[in-house]
Amino acid sequence: MSGDHDTDQGTDHGADPSGGGQTLWHGRFEGGPAAELMAYTESLSFDRRLWRDDITGSRAHVRGLARAAIITDAERDQVLLALDVVEQEMETGLFVFLPADEDIHTAVERRVTELAGPAGAKLHTGRSRNDQSATDVRLWTKRELMVVARRVLDLQRVLLRRAEEHEGVYLPGYTHLQRAQPVLLAHHLLAHGWALGRGIDRILDALERIDVSPLGAGALAGSSLPLDVDGNAADLGFARRFENSLDAVGSRDHVAEALFVLTLIAVDLSRIGEEIVLWTTDEFGFAKLDDAYATGSSMLPQKKNPDIAELARGKAGRLIGNLAGFLATMKGLPLSYNRDYQEDKEPLFDTADQVRLALGAVTGMLATITFVPERMQAAADAETTAATDLAEWLVQRGMPFREAHAVVGALVREALQGERSLRSLVAEHASLGADAAELVAPGVSVRRRVTPGGAGPVPVADQFVRFRVELDRLAEALEAPGA
Ligand code: ARG
Repeated sequence: MSGDHDTDQGTDHGADPSGGGQTLWHGRFEGGPAAELMAYTESLSFDRRLWRDDITGSRAHVRGLARAAIITDAERDQVLLALDVVEQEMETGLFVFLPADEDIHTAVERRVTELAGPAGAKLHTGRSRNDQSATDVRLWTKRELMVVARRVLDLQRVLLRRAEEHEGVYLPGYTHLQRAQPVLLAHHLLAHGWALGRGIDRILDALERIDVSPLGAGALAGSSLPLDVDGNAADLGFARRFENSLDAVGSRDHVAEALFVLTLIAVDLSRIGEEIVLWTTDEFGFAKLDDAYATGSSMLPQKKNPDIAELARGKAGRLIGNLAGFLATMKGLPLSYNRDYQEDKEPLFDTADQVRLALGAVTGMLATITFVPERMQAAADAETTAATDLAEWLVQRGMPFREAHAVVGALVREALQGERSLRSLVAEHASLGADAAELVAPGVSVRRRVTPGGAGPVPVADQFVRFRVELDRLAEALEAPGA
C-alpha cells in the first residue's frame, strides 16, 4: 500500500464543497474545512441515532432559557415548534442532512435555525456541544440500560420456568469440566439466574452515576448567563445536576461503567453459550435445540448448529474489546473536554446493541430448548460421582475425612481398572458394606446434597422460593420511579 488516501474515498482535497451548509464554528475561519477533515472528524454517521435525545435536550434547554428570561416566551415557542418539525422530519426520514452537518447537534440546530430564523439562532445560547453531547449520551444510556435490564429479567424468568418444568431432573455437576457430583438441573439453571440478577443490580447501581445532568456546564466552565441548571436537570428527568463543570464535560467514567456492566452480562451469556454448545453435541447429548433457534450447514445436510450459543461466546470477545478500547481512549486525557471523547459512542452503541440482541436470542434459545433427562441422569449416575458421599458416610461413622478420602480413592482406582464395579467393592469393604453401597445406586447421591444453597431437592425447593422473591425484588426495582 502506498499509504495514500486515493483508494475509495476520492481525492477531493481542500475546501468543503459549496452548497453543503456551514459548520457551527465557521465565523472564526477564513476558508471552509478540508474535505479530509470533515470525513475524519464527523460523528454524524453514528451519533445521528441520538436525534431523539438531542431534541429532548434542546427542548429542556430552550425552556430553561425562557425561565431565566434569556429569551422571550415567544422565542421559546418558536424554537419548540421548530423542534417539533425536526422531530417529525427525523421520524419520517424526511430530514435532509447537509455535508457540513458534522454531528447530530449541528444538524438539529442548523435545521431549527432554518425553520425559526432569529429565534432559532438563540437555541445554542449558553450551551456547548460539549455539555450537549454529554447530555444526549446520558439520556440514551439511561434508557438503553433499562431496556437491557428488563431483557435480563425476561431471561431469568425463562430460566426459572425451565427449572420448574424439570424438577427432579439431575445431571453431573462439573469442576474442571470433569464430572464431580450430581446436581439438579434446576440448580444449574438457577445458578445462571442468580448471576444474571447481579447484572441487573450492577445496571441499577451504575445508573446512579449516569443519572446526572451535565447540561449547563457549557464548553467547560459554566456561563455568564443566568442558566437554570437545576431546572434543566429536573426537566430532563435526571436525578441531579453536575457538581463541577470541568468534570461534567471532561469525564466519561460513566460510559466506561456502562460498557463494563453490559460486557459482564455478555460474558455471562457467553458462559451459558459455551454450555449449550457442549450440551447439544452428540457426545454430551444433554439438550436439543429447537429448529427455530438452530442453523444448518451449507454443505453438510445432517448438521444442526448452535450458532446463537457460539456467537454469545464469540461476540463477548468483541465487547471486551470495546470496553478495553474505550478505557485506553480515556487514559491520560487532561481536563476537560477532548475530541477523543467523541469515541465514546461507537463502542457504547455497539455493545448495547449486541447485548440486547444476545439477550433476545439466548432467551428464545433457552425457552425452546429440549433437555434430555435420560442422558443427563445416565452421565450423573456414573458410580464415581458418588465417591464423596462414600467418604462422608465414613466420616459420619467417625473416620477422619482425610482417611476416608484415601479409602474411597483406593476403591475408585480399583474400580477404574474395569473388572469390578465400585458398588460391589464398596459392598465388600470392611468399613463400608451393603448400606454404603446403596449410595452408589442411581439417583441417590443428588438427594444427599441437603445443605442450604446446595444442589439437592431439599435446598433447591427453598431456593425456588428465594429466587421468586429475588425476581419480584428486581422487577420492582425496575419499575421504581426514576429507574
Ligand atoms: N460530536 C462531538 C462529540 O461527540 C460534539 C462535541 C464537539 N465539540 C467540540 N468542541 N468540537 O463529542
